[in-house]
Amino acid sequence: EKGGYDYFMLKEIAEQPKAVADTLLGRIDGSGALHLDEVRIAPSVLREVDKVVVVACGTAYHAGMIAKYAIEHWTRLPCETELASEFRYRDPILDQRTLVIAISQSGETMDTLMALRHAREQGAKVLAICNTNGSTIPRESDAVLYTHAGPEVAVASTKAFLTQLVACYLVALYLGQTRGTKWGDEIRTVVRQLSEVPGHVERVLETMEPVRALARSLAHKNTVLFLGRHVGYPVALEGALKLKELAYMHAEGFAAGELKHGPIALIEDDLPVVVVVPSPRGRSVLHEKIVSNIQEIRARGARTIVIAEEGDEAVVPYADHLIWIPAAPTLLQPLVATVPLQVFACELATARGNEVDQPRNLAKSVTVE
Ligand code: M6R
Repeated sequence: EKGGYDYFMLKEIAEQPKAVADTLLGRIDGSGALHLDEVRIAPSVLREVDKVVVVACGTAYHAGMIAKYAIEHWTRLPCETELASEFRYRDPILDQRTLVIAISQSGETMDTLMALRHAREQGAKVLAICNTNGSTIPRESDAVLYTHAGPEVAVASTKAFLTQLVACYLVALYLGQTRGTKWGDEIRTVVRQLSEVPGHVERVLETMEPVRALARSLAHKNTVLFLGRHVGYPVALEGALKLKELAYMHAEGFAAGELKHGPIALIEDDLPVVVVVPSPRGRSVLHEKIVSNIQEIRARGARTIVIAEEGDEAVVPYADHLIWIPAAPTLLQPLVATVPLQVFACELATARGNEVDQPRNLAKSVTVE
C-alpha cells in the first residue's frame, strides 16, 4: 500500500503533481475561465461580502496565510487569517457580509470546527476547503471546495498542503471573477500558470538528491532557522513545522524583515538557515531585500541554504547551498518552494532514526481542543 516507498510520506510527496492536477481538474475550462459551481454560495451573496476571514490549524493555517496574499491581491477585499484556536476565544467581529474560509485536510479538527460554528452563529457564511468527503467540517459549512489529494496517511501533511494552496488560489480568483474586480486576461494568465504547476513540482522532485544529502549532513545539528518574505514567510513557517514534527529539532520560521528586531541574535557560526527567495522577476524590492538579509546572516556566520528560482544569479555569491526551483509567479511560488522543505525534513527524520509516518506525540487528526 506504500506503493514501493519506505514511508507513506515519501509516497505522498511523490503524488503531489497528480494531487495538484486533480484539484484543478474540471474547475477550469479550455479558455481559462473558472467553474466553481460546486461553491453553492449565490454570486449575489459573494458580491456583498466585505471581509474574508480564514481559519485553520497547523499546516492548513500556513495555506491560509498564503491565501490572504492571494485574496487581497485578486479581490481587493480585506482578509485576515487566524489560528482557529485563537479566533474562537477572541469574540471576533463577524456579520452576514463576512465570508469565513475554514481549511482542514481531515475535516475533523475540533478547533477549526468550533471556529466555524461560532462564525455561523454570528451570521457569517462559511466555505470549507477540505480533503475528506463527508467529514464534519464540510457538513457543517454553507459550501465546500474539496481538495483532491486522495487519502493522506502520514501525520505530516504534504500533498494536502499543496492542494489546499491550489484551492485557496481558485477561491481567490473565483471571488475576483464573481465580484468583477479581476477578470479576463489576468485570471486566464494565472489559470494557465496554475496548470503548469504539476510539471514544475515533477521537476523539483527529480532534483532532490542534493537536498537529501544536505539533510543527512545536518542530522547532528540542534537548530535550523527558516526565513522568508511575503508568501515565502508562511513557506518558512511550514518548513520549520515539518522539521519540528518529523526531526524533533528546534526549528523556527521568521519573516526576514523581523531579523533585526530580535532573531538575528540567534545567528552563530555554522548555524543552518534556510532562506526562501522570491522570484527576481516579480516585485524586485522583495528580492533585493532578501538578498541583503542573506548577506547579513552570512556575515555573522550562518550556513545559508538558499531556495531560489533557476537563473537567479544574484543569490549565488551568498549561498553555501543552493536549491534551484522552476520559475513561478510570486504568488504561486509556495507550490514549488515548499517541496524541497518536505524532502529535507523527511530525510532528516530518517537520518535521526525517527518514525517518519507516526511522529511521537502527534495524531493525524486532532479531534480534541
Ligand atoms: O486536518 P487538518 O488540516 O485540520 O489538520 C490541521 C493540523 O493538525 C495539521 O495540518 C498538522 O499541523 C500536520 N501534522 C502538519 O504536518
